Amino acid sequence: MTAPETALRCTGCGALATPPPLPFRCAAAGDRGDHVLARSAPPPDAVMPTGGTRDETLNEKLADEPNPFIRYRQLGYPWQLARAGGMTDEQYRALVRELDAAVAEVDGHGFVVTPYLNVPALAQSLGLAADGLWLKDETTHVAGSHKARHLFGLALTLAVAARTKVTDDEDAQRPLAIASCGNAALAAAVVARAARRRLLVFVPPWADAPVVDRLTRLGAELTVCPRQPADPAGDPCHHRFRAAVAAGALPFSCQGSDNGLTIDGGMTLGFELAEQSRAAPVARLFVQVGGGALASAVAQGLAWASELGVIVRRPALHPVQAEGCFPLIRAWRRICRALVAELGGPAAPAEDLASGPSAARADAAAARWLSTHASAQALEGALSRAAAERASAMWPWETEPHSAASGILDDETYDYLAVVRATLETGGWPVVAAEATVLEAHRLGTRASFAVSATGTAGLAGALTLAQADLLDRSERVAVMFTGVAR
Ligand SMILES: Cc1ncc(COP(=O)(O)O)c(C=O)c1O
Ligand SMILES: [Zn+2]
Repeated sequence: MTAPETALRCTGCGALATPPPLPFRCAAAGDRGDHVLARSAPPPDAVMPTGGTRDETLNEKLADEPNPFIRYRQLGYPWQLARAGGMTDEQYRALVRELDAAVAEVDGHGFVVTPYLNVPALAQSLGLAADGLWLKDETTHVAGSHKARHLFGLALTLAVAARTKVTDDEDAQRPLAIASCGNAALAAAVVARAARRRLLVFVPPWADAPVVDRLTRLGAELTVCPRQPADPAGDPCHHRFRAAVAAGALPFSCQGSDNGLTIDGGMTLGFELAEQSRAAPVARLFVQVGGGALASAVAQGLAWASELGVIVRRPALHPVQAEGCFPLIRAWRRICRALVAELGGPAAPAEDLASGPSAARADAAAARWLSTHASAQALEGALSRAAAERASAMWPWETEPHSAASGILDDETYDYLAVVRATLETGGWPVVAAEATVLEAHRLGTRASFAVSATGTAGLAGALTLAQADLLDRSERVAVMFTGVAR
């Protein structure tokens, strides 16, 4: 029997979750495996404005639509849930517009496709041709970062689930919960307020006072989480968040391992990039990685757009982390090292904790060798071994994470496996950015007149790292994302 469009499958153990999908987490999570609920492929009849359909009238209609949650609605989970529950397309669009208007009331503006710009000044810093660097600018987005995409997708799913009686009145009263003291919490507070839901936010004792103040003014209920002596390794805020979810709160977070559907709304960013880069395709995409939901969502959005024929080739994915905390890159190296050894290859990636130009060259050489020598089956085998034994590749960073790019200091990359998969599938490799390069990228971004944070420019730091190690082909076009505003 084929699974319904509204089913989610665990990418770790393969378990199928059918609606009601609360709390969007694999039932088997908590053992040694890596469990993330995900949608697996674009719905067969889904339509994107550019390509993917022969219905030109529909293409034209969609092309004028600036709200990504309407523009790409047929690819989104909540639309599938709405249709399965008997809502018409018109009713669904009205619901999106209503929630979007509520967001605009809280934050001053709602969701629109964000700018995608050619920035010759920055291209020059990378030694690229004038049209060699493209920039997706999320700094003017709802709540000042890309995070609201993840949460608006979740809010739509909750609204549709309530409307179609997939969930009941009691579910509608359950509070939402998130562990964050930065962009994700701010975005969650804006969207939860718009959706008129209670929001519990678990923050560390050192959370920024202005952020705490804004969260409080948005009506979020804050709990400060110092590390308790009995706490296991990992973020104490995340432990308290999990306890709240166990007690009945719904995860309203930007981590696929807690809430697989958070990836769904984030995929709109990948769809936009696909459409916007169609005319001048990019060979590489640099994405800053903290918990990994951003890179996972963008990579999957691009993969779906490529399946639908919107782009011919997926750009090589280069996840970027700072030298003060790079658990994803350690994981990628471990998986690649095993794979290279299994296939008898000559080029092992760098040692787990290595950084600097020679490590970057070793990682690039391993990735290039694997992209021509590892079959899809060999990749699948390596990924499923890692999924069965999460701790073989991913565990919390062991020293105190530090970087000016504070938004990517998650001590664990929750969505790491999806990011490793996309990196291997596209022939990219991850990049450790030295702190000096993180600062240089921030300086460049600011000098180019963007009100962007150091986290927001960390992807550019990855591109600079490759350029400085002579690993960037000067004739290529590459893309980066400025993901968050300076606060
Ligand atoms: C501005 C900004 N960019 C990128 C990221 C990284 O996203 P993720 O944690 O999903 O990897 C964050 C996360 O906090 C962020 O705030
Ligand atoms: Zn599972």
